[in-house]
Amino acid sequence: MYHIMPYWWDINSMAEFMGNVIDWGELWKQKTAGKKECSMLWHDKKYAGRYDENVKANNWRKGRRLIRELNVTMRSRVLDIGAGPGTLTIPIASMVKHVTAVEPADGMMWYLKKNIAEKGLDNVACVHKKWEDVDIAKDLEGPYDVVVASLSLGMPDIKAALEKMNAASSAYVYLFWPAGVTYWEANYAEIWHELHGKEFRHGPRCDCLYNILYGMGIYPNIKMYKDEYLESFSNINDAVEYYRPFYNIENYRQEAILRDFLRKKLIRKNGRLILKGYSNIAKIWWKKRYDY
Ligand SMILES: C[S@@+](CC[C@H](N)C(=O)[O-])C[C@H]1O[C@@H](n2cnc3c(N)ncnc32)[C@H](O)[C@@H]1O
Repeated sequence: MYHIMPYWWDINSMAEFMGNVIDWGELWKQKTAGKKECSMLWHDKKYAGRYDENVKANNWRKGRRLIRELNVTMRSRVLDIGAGPGTLTIPIASMVKHVTAVEPADGMMWYLKKNIAEKGLDNVACVHKKWEDVDIAKDLEGPYDVVVASLSLGMPDIKAALEKMNAASSAYVYLFWPAGVTYWEANYAEIWHELHGKEFRHGPRCDCLYNILYGMGIYPNIKMYKDEYLESFSNINDAVEYYRPFYNIENYRQEAILRDFLRKKLIRKNGRLILKGYSNIAKIWWKKRYDY
């Protein structure tokens, strides 16, 4: 049966399939409900330090790879949301006029400031807040030609967060977010039932983002790329210790399951234990239009 929907239907970020209404913003909330807040883990300097080491590898290769995907010039003013230790902020700062880095986690902020100081950068401003708590007028130094959020969309009210990103930008907005099951989630899912007696619930994917934006009247571009996941440990105990919070390990039984699993997964290379795989990441981007 066909329904004739009123003209404002799309604006509500909803879609209809076989008579059922899909509210993509609500779906995003449901898929994040009960999950640990994304920034929580990164308060800890131990975890932030490992992330920092990874993104610095090969002269900030990860960030430089992402920067090639952005439309920036020497005159650009950039807003990096969920900047981490500066994955994008550090390598992009010497290519543009100004960067504002928003980062809520204490550990990540500590490394971000350390990296800014070590590089002697004087065109980076740091905002130690969650994006949801940022006041565009009071906390930021906009307008920004480029607003970017890379793997940092752990925000339950994503529609409000996207609206704010769009408002903070005078030209481009770029989001980097998984498509399909990521390598690390596939690993969690393998033993989640054994650990916790229930199936692993995957987080919201880029299809939600696309549909929410579409409902906002934004028709974004999408490009897929493969992102490498690589962690290296000196021994199995280090690996177990590192993965404990990611697998929600709370007792000896669970720790033994994780240890067995990692023994099977880790590959020995040059005296190190390596976990390596690939995930599909979507680059979702749009240019603000003023001619609607
Ligand atoms: C996986 S890291 C990504 C860091 C960096 N953007 C990158 O691409 O490597 C996710 C970052 O997003 C930050 N984050 C999580 N929730 C956030 C929020 N609500 N607002 C701003 N940043 C957030 C975390 O603290 C963390 O530093």
